[in-house]
Amino acid sequence: MAKTKTLYACRDCGGSFPKWAGQCPDCGAWNTLEETMPQAGTSPGPRFAGYSGDAAAAMIRPLSAVGVENTRRTATGLSELDRVLGGGLVQGSVVLIGGDPGIGKSTLLIQALASLSAHMQPLYVSGEESAEQISMRAARLGLPVDRLQLLTETCVERILALADKHRPRVMVMDSIQTFYSEQLQSAPGAVAQVRESAAQLVRFAKQTGISLFLVGHVTKEGALAGPRVLEHMVDTVLYFEGEAGSQIRLVRAIKNRFGAVNELGVFAMTDKGLKEVSNPSAIFLSRHEEQVCGSAILVTREGTRPMLVEVQALVDQSSLGNPRRVALGLEQNRLAMLLAVLHRHGGIGMVDQDVFLNVVGGVRVTETAADLPVLLSVLSSFRDRPLPVGLAAFGEVGLAGEIRPVPSGEDRVREAAKHGFKRILLPAANRPRKAVKGIEVIPVQRLSQALSVIFE
Ligand code: TYD
Ligand code: MG
Repeated sequence: MAKTKTLYACRDCGGSFPKWAGQCPDCGAWNTLEETMPQAGTSPGPRFAGYSGDAAAAMIRPLSAVGVENTRRTATGLSELDRVLGGGLVQGSVVLIGGDPGIGKSTLLIQALASLSAHMQPLYVSGEESAEQISMRAARLGLPVDRLQLLTETCVERILALADKHRPRVMVMDSIQTFYSEQLQSAPGAVAQVRESAAQLVRFAKQTGISLFLVGHVTKEGALAGPRVLEHMVDTVLYFEGEAGSQIRLVRAIKNRFGAVNELGVFAMTDKGLKEVSNPSAIFLSRHEEQVCGSAILVTREGTRPMLVEVQALVDQSSLGNPRRVALGLEQNRLAMLLAVLHRHGGIGMVDQDVFLNVVGGVRVTETAADLPVLLSVLSSFRDRPLPVGLAAFGEVGLAGEIRPVPSGEDRVREAAKHGFKRILLPAANRPRKAVKGIEVIPVQRLSQALSVIFE
């Protein structure tokens, strides 16, 4: 392929220049010039032997005439991965998997590929590890690898030419930051390279119907390294969460064109690779021998599944003028707000107290149903009184001190009952219509009411 001349375009005003500069000569913005492809948008893009762009000429047609056969799903053999994908891998879909180094992205994907190889031809493209390293890992995991095809190459054009000849049904690219396009001069991993490589890969997947997994690294700030635009280009964004030192690995769907967002898949990292945890409530609950102060059990709902999680609080006399508010696994601002509501509507002030909060097991709770249990745990620690045995809770706390309903109340009550909880504190509007066997429901409408039921 002939080397095309590079161009630099301004991210803000779109002006393009033959030379890079710190300041855009057109709009005056700083640090906005990026290397781009010449005449981006009008270029026909690389052509592959098997198809031509003209064959898929644009055509206006009624939506009802469009078939749905292209959303066929294939089970990956890992039920927790299928769950976050929205019920299996969709043909022709592009999935981005992000996460910290060493968290298990490559392990998860090689396990999925090995299992998929039973009924579709897979290709694993690695720009990071050598063929020997991958083979060693597969052998250690005891995976069936006879049908697993491997390619170690980093040039996108060469990879696509090979893939076009070989025509796998599912392809893994590990990792997107290591690939480069010949059409750009910047080094692999540069923003323009990541974007251009991903764009070519996505185009290829859409035109050939290959299902594609892209692995992405995560920066210290927690964003996927490379341009945010990567997240817009793909169909599904999955994100590995988990604490260093913990065995538990959580895979969360941040975006999914084929399923629910915030869906959570739970795995445990063992010496035999990632094992699915199909009953996550059981591992997030630490069964204390006796009741401890500052611990509350909340029923959260991640995606479509209710889950029991323990939240712990420590309230301690502060020696600082500005007491500390630390929340791990929950939003810090939310904690500050809840403490203000507790002061104003519960009459309990913590102005001279440090408040630390932790969600056990490295789970990140993103929903407001945690409000009520958070306040219970804080108060339990503050008063040095454990919560009643066998109590679970959920409910949003409003700024007026009211307890607001959250979605799927009944599912949560059932989940708590299933795990042997005897009582559940919930928003009055979430009271199940029919009694749930084995669990007493305590509906509350106001925060003050909740506090008097539990602590009086
Ligand atoms: P890996 O999948 O290579 O991470 P990533 O691709 O996200 O960078 O995972 C590597 C880590 O997982 C490494 O720290 C060792 C651990 N591990 C196990 O504990 N058991 C196993 O069976 C495997 C394959 C890895
Ligand atoms: Mg890896």
